[in-house]
Parts: sequence; structure tokens; C-alpha cells
Amino acid sequence: MFADRTRWNLTSNRLSKALARHRSGGRRLLDLSASNPTECGFHYDTGAIMRALCSPASLGYHPDPQGLKSAREAVAGYYAHRGEYVFIEDVLLTTSTSEAYSFIFRLLCNPGDELLIPTPSYPLFDFLADLQDVKLKPYPLIYDHGWQIDFHALEAAIGERTRGIILVHPNNPTGHFTTLMDLAELNRLCSAHGLALIADEVFLDFGIKGRSPSLSANREAPTFTLSGLSKISGLPQMKFAWLIVSGPEDWKREALARLEVIADTYLSMNAPIQHAAPAFLKQRHGFQRQLMERVLANLEELDRQLAEFFNFLGHQVGLANVWIALSADHGVSSLPDAAKKLRIPAANIDVGKLSNQINSSLSARFSPGHSTSFINFDYPLAWLNQDAFADAHVKESDAENAVGAAMKQAGLRGYYTKSQLAAGEVPDTAMGRLFLNSYSPEGPWYVMGVIDPYNVGSSKGTDHATPYSYDRHVPLAFYGLPFQSGTYYTHAEPVDLAATLAALLGINAPTHSVGRVLTEALAPPHRTPTPGGKQP
Ligand SMILES: Cc1ncc(COP(=O)(O)O)c(C=O)c1O
Repeated sequence: MFADRTRWNLTSNRLSKALARHRSGGRRLLDLSASNPTECGFHYDTGAIMRALCSPASLGYHPDPQGLKSAREAVAGYYAHRGEYVFIEDVLLTTSTSEAYSFIFRLLCNPGDELLIPTPSYPLFDFLADLQDVKLKPYPLIYDHGWQIDFHALEAAIGERTRGIILVHPNNPTGHFTTLMDLAELNRLCSAHGLALIADEVFLDFGIKGRSPSLSANREAPTFTLSGLSKISGLPQMKFAWLIVSGPEDWKREALARLEVIADTYLSMNAPIQHAAPAFLKQRHGFQRQLMERVLANLEELDRQLAEFFNFLGHQVGLANVWIALSADHGVSSLPDAAKKLRIPAANIDVGKLSNQINSSLSARFSPGHSTSFINFDYPLAWLNQDAFADAHVKESDAENAVGAAMKQAGLRGYYTKSQLAAGEVPDTAMGRLFLNSYSPEGPWYVMGVIDPYNVGSSKGTDHATPYSYDRHVPLAFYGLPFQSGTYYTHAEPVDLAATLAALLGINAPTHSVGRVLTEALAPPHRTPTPGGKQP
């Protein structure tokens, strides 16, 4: 008898069950995920809060779908204090940002329409969207010199039914802010595709490195800016939030008129909280100061613990004997369009088509008359369907060679098979050695395809997992007495780490080590002067 949209899995998960058991056993719990500010030891001006709730004005009922003017003025005052100007006519009060989201979803979306959400993000969106019959489509945030939006993936995610882009500024949980360059690109996308921007700014005031502007002044695209007391003043129990509408004037007027009807249907704001809003907003100064002090203290604590760790190492083995080696994840290929502008031959590859081509040629050979999936193409790596080859009585090395030949025929530059790598039978070239180093006995039969440089296995965006320098370009940094400070431009690879550290330790390098000792980065051996001041 219940609607499909409420068909949630309501059974407790393993964590909740374990937690309940732990609690019922009366055992102590150190909950590092506690996020209720009223239970995290912050000091509130309780007198001011209680007095604010006693306003005699609360005894009268003067409903306004957008919220009481005095409360909206307080919201505008919050922005004015930040140096930003908001018209009270553009503000609509809600009991929470979650309610504001639901009003906006109702305003923008028919059942089945889509909104794009950042990933990673916070989990409430799924429920909000389910309840409004809206579909969420994720767009990735990537970590590369800090968190950023993958704009190519974002644009690729925009479809016929997309109505808007949700932006969390700064994002929860990555903590990164939307830059002005991001905003320009988001505005361009919204204008080009007729989308609205929904900016959640509940954490806007909590930047460690200074202020970041609110999107409440954004006029370039239809924009909704959301915030509320729950985070700004650490008062989630007061249920006071707002949304601000900005953008092209005609659109804005129409959006506000429609939102007013949605809000008027519920009139969910109550009088005491609206009358108390100016005082509650004032609470933010004390709350934010305490919270930022705590965040900075936590960072300091992290530094202190790292220092303690190095002190410990110092005491145990002496800092002179501690070396640190750091590296990082691989790079990516340039976007084919950008590469082509530089006259670098580059291409977007239709992997589905390529995979069909390879499977058809294998089917023609091994299962004539039947179309069989002999490979699962994880471009440029082919995983072989061992059952299909077993049915055709083909053994591993023959199957892999046949797949490799079909891949070449379909346009790949070359291939290395699992059996070939296992036997170490690769040409003695730089490329052959790279593939040999990538050998793993794990998993089913496979063939590693060699693609042309700057070939990307998708119609948009970029890719990695190739043997080319743009992919393999990673930092390699050393700290410690045996190293001389400087930046070195000689060829070096992460595999050189093992050889270098082994040489410094005076031990044999690991059996399969193929790296070299990075002698250029090693400090000259320290010699003790002889008694007469002469060097030996
Ligand atoms: C990014 C973000 N937006 C909105 C909310 C919910 O705020 P409210 O209490 O106003 O519904 C949260 C709560 O954690 C959040 O992390």
C-alpha cells in the first residue's frame, strides 16, 4: 500500500547494530563522527538565546510565504556584514536547507528529471531526491593539486532531462571552495544548457584561508543560494534557513512567484523563531570563533603529533638516520582537442565500437555463426572470457595471441599477453621493460594493448594507464642527510627508490629491482678531517 519512493531498506546495517550492542553494554564510546554542535562542548550565549525566544511579537500571526520581513532583513544583514548585498525581496525563509532543496526540486523538476550532484558529497541528497521523484546524476570532483570539478565529466553528464547543477560551496566532505574561474565555467554551462545553479553555502564562513565570496550575487545564470543557522550559528535545533534567488531579472521574478506558492502551501516558518532570527544570527560570531579555534587547534595537534613521531624516531634511531621518500599518483593524457591544437596527433576512441570489432573477428574465428563475447575490453586492457575460449578448445597462450592479433587488426599499436609476460619474453626495449614491470599473475587471462599516444578511450575527457611519459610523470622527493638539496633533471623513476635506498643501507637491492641508484641526489660522503686538518 506504500508508494515506491518510500521503499527504503529500513533494516539496521552492521555498523548500527554493532554500535547499539556497544552502547547497550554500557561501554565507553569515542565517537569521532559526532557532528551535533550542541553536544560538542561549544559555549552559547544561552541568556541571549532564551530572551530572543520570548518576544511578545510572537503572539501575533502575520503569515508571509517568503518569511517575516524582519527575519529576511536579518539575513540580508548577515550578507551585508560579509560585504555582499542581498535584496530582502529575493530571500525566502525555510525551516532548513533541506526544505529549501525540496522547494527548489519541486520548482524545477518534473518526475524523472535530473539534477547533477558533486561526488563525493554528503548523503542526504539521495533521500531529498527520492522524495521529490528527482533523479540525481553524479559529476566527479577530482583531486589534482587540490580538489576541483571535472568539468568535462560534468558537461558529459548533462542530458535532455537535466534541470540544474548542485554545487556545495565549500563542499562537504572535500572542503574546497568554488573559484571564480569555476563559477564562470558553471555559468557558461548553465546558460548553454538552460540549467539552474543550486549553491549550498552552509559552510561558507568556515574557510581557513580567508573569505570566499557567496554566489548570492551571481546574475549570470539562474541561481539559488542556500544557507541557514544550523551551520552558520551552530543552531540546527532552531530550524531557520533561507534561499536566495538571483539571475536574469525576468527568470528571477517568475521563480520567486512560483516559490511563493510552494512556501504558501506549507507556511512552515513559525513566528518565535523568525522573531528570534536577528539574535540567533548574532550568535554566529562567538560560535564561528570557537569552531575555527578548534579546527586550527586540531591542525596544530596534527603537526604536534607528527613532530612527536619524528622526535620518537629521533630518539629511537637518531634523525640523522631517518630518510623520507615521497612519490604520488600518475598523471593523465592531454585532452585530445587540446593536443590537436598543438598539432599532436590525438584521438577520442569509441571503445564500444572497438570492442565489438574485436569480438566479431574472434567470433568469426572461434565460434562461427555465433556472436560471442570473447573479451571484456577495459581499454586498453582486454580481459579474456576463459569459458568462451574453453568451449572453443583454445589454450591460454593461443587465446591471448589471437586476442592480441585481433586488437592490432582493429588499430591498436601492439600488445603484450599475460603468458608472454609470465615467461619474460618481451623485446629488450624501454617499452618491453615497462610492460614486463607491469606483469601481475593475478586475475584471469589478459592482453595489455599498446595504444598510440594521446588516444583517449572516451568521447570526452581524458584518460590514463598508458606507458607514455605524460602518464608516468610523477614527483619523487627525498629528505634526509644522505641527500643533497636541489632539483634534478636527470631521468628518474619510482623504481629507482628501491635501488637508491638499498645502496644507502649497504644491502643488496631486491631480487627483481630494475632501478638505478640516484647518485646525483646523494650528498658526497661525509669525511672526518684528519688531525692535521688534511683530508685523507
Ligand atoms: C552541505 C550541507 N548542506 C546542508 C546540510 C543540512 O543543513 P540543514 O540542517 O539546514 O538542513 C548539511 C548537513 O550536514 C550539509 O552538510
